Amino acid sequence: MASSVTRGTWGSRTGFILAAAGSAVGLGNIWGFPTQVGQGGGAVFVLVYLLCVLLICLPIMVAELVIGRHAQLAPVGSFDAIRPNTRWWLVGVLGVLAGAGILSFYSVIAGWAVAYIWFTATGAVTGDAAAVGGFFTTFTANGPLSIGLTLVVLGTTAAVLLGGVQSGIERVTKLMMPALIVLLLVLALRAITLPGAAEGLAYYLKPDFSRLFDPTILNAALGQAFFSLSLGMGAMLTYGSYLGKHESIVSAACWVVALDTAMALLAGFIIFPSGFSIEGFDPSAGGPGLIFAVLPRLFSSLPGGQLFGAAFFILLTMAALTSTISLLEVPVAHFIDVHSWARRKAVLLVTTVVFLIAIPSALANGSVGFLGNLPGLGTDFLTLMGIIWNNFALPIGGLLTAVFVGWVWRVDRAIEEVELHGAPFPGRALWSFLIRWVCPVAIAVIIVYTIASM
Ligand code: PHE
Repeated sequence: MASSVTRGTWGSRTGFILAAAGSAVGLGNIWGFPTQVGQGGGAVFVLVYLLCVLLICLPIMVAELVIGRHAQLAPVGSFDAIRPNTRWWLVGVLGVLAGAGILSFYSVIAGWAVAYIWFTATGAVTGDAAAVGGFFTTFTANGPLSIGLTLVVLGTTAAVLLGGVQSGIERVTKLMMPALIVLLLVLALRAITLPGAAEGLAYYLKPDFSRLFDPTILNAALGQAFFSLSLGMGAMLTYGSYLGKHESIVSAACWVVALDTAMALLAGFIIFPSGFSIEGFDPSAGGPGLIFAVLPRLFSSLPGGQLFGAAFFILLTMAALTSTISLLEVPVAHFIDVHSWARRKAVLLVTTVVFLIAIPSALANGSVGFLGNLPGLGTDFLTLMGIIWNNFALPIGGLLTAVFVGWVWRVDRAIEEVELHGAPFPGRALWSFLIRWVCPVAIAVIIVYTIASM
């Protein structure tokens, strides 16, 4: 295929792992995971989340990387190349739409992180829990400011993508990832030594088993796992398409999943102990503002807190950027591969469309009140976008990917691609079983169960 000649590739295996982990690690880990744990009843959510990651998401991660590397195209092109003259390319279309949809609300939250660099560095957010929470509410109610910050995030993402695959994505992630891990570790150590931390740890680590089959928890955990691992929409598929033929897909997948999960768990070790050290803290009340309410107070308990706070939000912004880059790359690569657009044209047009869809999310806070409701829907626009894309579109995309690899393209061909040039595939019988049976059945059951109990 002509496009493979001009395709960018990763500079090295570590480069690929860092870039894929850069896509995976982002707001989903540090903002999304604690928020969902808080709303999903604590440790029981953590348990369901880990099961989803191991039994459903890891096999699908391998499947996406295999499809991408085999076809060497973006999602729509890949499904079409492997099964021409069928409708399977529509799974790719779902991914292109999900990429734009997720980016539209993701860039709003990333914009908050950008603003908090300034707020923490200048010591603007201080005081008791009510003051810090009130600060967040007032800040997000400023619609024009939210729109401006969203534009900054999208503009920066577009600028990086104009630079192409390797020089842009790989370089940013190589610096950011180790720094973020170190800072999270320092913060977690501080948080678990605060007075009252034990209560937070119990909330985070002692599951209430009676809620194990709560459909809301199952659906939220599944959606969160897909979202956090960048799965179900072809982001990993697209990154896999830049992966060299001699690389081991399975070890790359395991590394990415392990790094991403470790970062999410670490974020929980920061938020819950420090949250519970605050008088009258209710983890489920904070909603999307949870980390913005808890963290500034943690920083103020540290010597040099302003510096720590600013460093934290700088790293969070960078982590978010390596994710927005991969979200934007899916629709962009699609228009380049399938419609032969120039990269520049694809980047500019897609970014503009995403910005327009982002406006209601940015404004949802101002016009409706941040946790206010859309008339008749019981939620604000930003939260609604999260539910549509994370809780439904991504798991459905993952289900179709599993069915495609397990039953349509068939596992033996996928295994052959993994084992090219003698790369190992440990546990391939287990993987075949999971991808053919466990992934499709479990996702279908959770989705049907969720809809039935709505
Ligand atoms: N995984 C990213 C995060 O956790 C978000 C993302 C989802 C990125 C889907 C790409 C595709 O922040």
